[in-house]
Amino acid sequence: MTLTEETARLAGEKIRQRKHLLGLEEISADEISLILETAKSFKEIFTRSVKKVPTLRGKTVVNLFFENSTRTRTSFEIAAKRLSADVVNFAVATSSVSKGESLIDTARTIEAMGADYIIMRHSASGAPWYLSRNVQATVLNAGDGTHEHPTQGLLDAYTILEKKGHIEGLKVVIVGDILHSRVARSNIWALTKLGAKVRLVGPRTLVPPTFADLGVEIFTDLKEALRDADVINILRIQLERQQSHLFPSIREYRLLYQINDQRLTHAKPDVLVMHPGPINRGVEISAGVADGPHSVINEQVTNGVAVRMAVLFLLAAGANPVQAEA
Ligand code: CP
Repeated sequence: MTLTEETARLAGEKIRQRKHLLGLEEISADEISLILETAKSFKEIFTRSVKKVPTLRGKTVVNLFFENSTRTRTSFEIAAKRLSADVVNFAVATSSVSKGESLIDTARTIEAMGADYIIMRHSASGAPWYLSRNVQATVLNAGDGTHEHPTQGLLDAYTILEKKGHIEGLKVVIVGDILHSRVARSNIWALTKLGAKVRLVGPRTLVPPTFADLGVEIFTDLKEALRDADVINILRIQLERQQSHLFPSIREYRLLYQINDQRLTHAKPDVLVMHPGPINRGVEISAGVADGPHSVINEQVTNGVAVRMAVLFLLAAGANPVQAEA
């Protein structure tokens, strides 16, 4: 969707008024489109020798990750630095959290040192929402429990738009552990709002039928789900979030749901293969597909920086044009 100048201005104003990025459920299609258009401008800046813009000069961004991360934490750090912010990576494992300090006391302590933006990942669904109501700083959700991972949903939408030129009408198949996946939920919100036809597929225990209420189709048969697919987004089996055995074995999961070269033949010849990472090679995706010509997994990571710059920029500045430093 291309926005008019006025729609972009209103969407930018709305994002700035929100102050926080907590999830995509509450974000409109226009706001999502503005974030994607802004990310495109930032990606163009990446090709220049000076990649910095001054938007967050004098501001402090704190990465507060209570769960491990490679892509999200690092790309938020790069994004904030490219916007000229001072960035602090708070090491939860060696902090006073281990002595029993609460989330709010920890965040207020960080805020007292001058944090303007707190980027938080937490195992509890809703933790960023709770934080946003207890601090003055702007809060960005970097993944909360099984609830949402908004910047992953945005970078996935951006990658599809960049590769396909549009999102409306595309058949996007999300494969695997939907039940435990915050990535799936944020993808569903973003892609359905932008007009994609989203299909979910996996073992019945990992794809609850209630997801149909979100306007998606539910499948248990992989071949059926992949028919004429434009995009396949493959999820990791999140063994760390499973309280009980929801499928018989990894071997059985691989036999029924692994995306490999043979299974790609059911999709369109130009299908995109995506994965938010980290990958379990040989489980949900074969090494050949992960490294093959359909895979855009590394491009998703690159786009993550542009999208996270766009989100920080819009929360700070609204819809002002993106300008690199001279
Ligand atoms: N996709 C994603 O959230 O990866 P990380 O856990 O490495 O941040």
